[in-house]
Amino acid sequence: MEPTIFIIFGITGDLASRKLLPALLGLYVKKMLPKRFAVIGITRRSFTREEFRESIRSHMNIKQGQFKEEDVKHFLDHFSYEQGMFDDQKMYVSLAASIKAIDDRWGQCSNKLFHLSVPPTLYEGILTNVAQSELNKPCADGTGWTRILIEKPFGNDTNTAQSLDKLLGKLFDEEQIFRIDHYLAKESLQNILAFRFANNMFEPLWHRQYIDKVHIKLFEKVTVENRGQFYDGVGALKDVGQNHILAMLALIAMDEPKSFEVNDIRRERAKALSKLIPITPRTFEKHIVRGQYDGYISELGVRPESTTETYFRIEAHVKSPRWKGVPFYLESGKAFAEARTEIDVYFKSTSCKPANAKAFHGDDPKCIEKQNVLTFRIQPDEGIKVRFFVKKPGVTLITEPKVLKFRYADTLAHPEALGDYERLIHDAFVGDQTLFASTDEIMASWKFVTPILEKWGDLPMKKYKKGTVEIE
Ligand code: BG6
Repeated sequence: MEPTIFIIFGITGDLASRKLLPALLGLYVKKMLPKRFAVIGITRRSFTREEFRESIRSHMNIKQGQFKEEDVKHFLDHFSYEQGMFDDQKMYVSLAASIKAIDDRWGQCSNKLFHLSVPPTLYEGILTNVAQSELNKPCADGTGWTRILIEKPFGNDTNTAQSLDKLLGKLFDEEQIFRIDHYLAKESLQNILAFRFANNMFEPLWHRQYIDKVHIKLFEKVTVENRGQFYDGVGALKDVGQNHILAMLALIAMDEPKSFEVNDIRRERAKALSKLIPITPRTFEKHIVRGQYDGYISELGVRPESTTETYFRIEAHVKSPRWKGVPFYLESGKAFAEARTEIDVYFKSTSCKPANAKAFHGDDPKCIEKQNVLTFRIQPDEGIKVRFFVKKPGVTLITEPKVLKFRYADTLAHPEALGDYERLIHDAFVGDQTLFASTDEIMASWKFVTPILEKWGDLPMKKYKKGTVEIE
């Protein structure tokens, strides 16, 4: 890998602390960063270099013993900071000079990777200033790329996403823009495509003729914790629905790409999302539930009269011969009894015929309990399992359910396995956009979500208790 400077806007924020910095350190320890790399954090405060490193050290959310102290220390040796406000042009002049000084020291033009993890209202100022200071361009000899890693939310609705996209398109080429949805980079999500297309066991059945319904759940045990100020007014649908949940839907619903190259995969994901049938006034109340956990309005940073949802369930449909009539239930909530993200694909119970009544479905005439179910467990305890039926030992022919399963935890640790943010940073360094959302994917998901948000207020708000298991 070529020499690269990683410039972080929002280095003292929650995301940098929880995800970004630990991932960068993880890559450093795995020797997956360029030999020559530097991190420049943009911050309002003034520090000595040592104070800055110490503050990053204490800010980084890593477990005791997770990394060797010596590695952390060497890692932090690569850090420096630029003091200033994000909208102050002078700061960018000084940043450009600091980058030039590093280039001079290394004796070559380095790559520049910008990471924006700041409130979206600040995007425009930062992006414009980066471009105005010509940090979006390679050096005079054509070496040294610039790439932008941009966090969600990518806009607030279709219009704002379009404006952001227009702005980005004016200042950068598409190859320079890396729109993060960290779910796409989860190993267990990447496995959906591998599992579907590397095995011939399920793909022929991946069709309305055999599939009854799909249920995608993202349940979290955590409340909004200390993120109330950010979360309030955003809500579950924008926070995880428009992005993470729809990313999972795309991987289940998409057709096989022509190749496993970046453009073909992204095209198919986008195509699947573009076929989502918009909610109509008739289906709005029937197909959507929104909820809020008791005590949400007392959380730090939340308005006492807030009607922000912390839970939603949507019955979505995909307009294609493959999926006609198959409901996709999309569901997410905070403050649930347990953290669990999984996708259940329910197969129609073809054994559910009167002739098989006694043996196969006895006192379950609708065969609800007699469906084969394929489950992708995204987290925790990542894996895949299949529910199937076998004869119950004994003199009568009746069946009972069993499970075939694969758990990542049962296999030997894979030294090459990367965490989601490790993978994203790695791919941005090497310029692979496969696990990043394309404009078409983002626009298609907003097209589905925006009309729901516009009528959100018309829906009753279900209150639920913290630690709930299920919402009726
Ligand atoms: C983030 C949301 O994008 O995803 C959070 O803003 C949510 O509210 C998180 O908790 C879930 O991600 P993960 O990787 O912890 O499942």
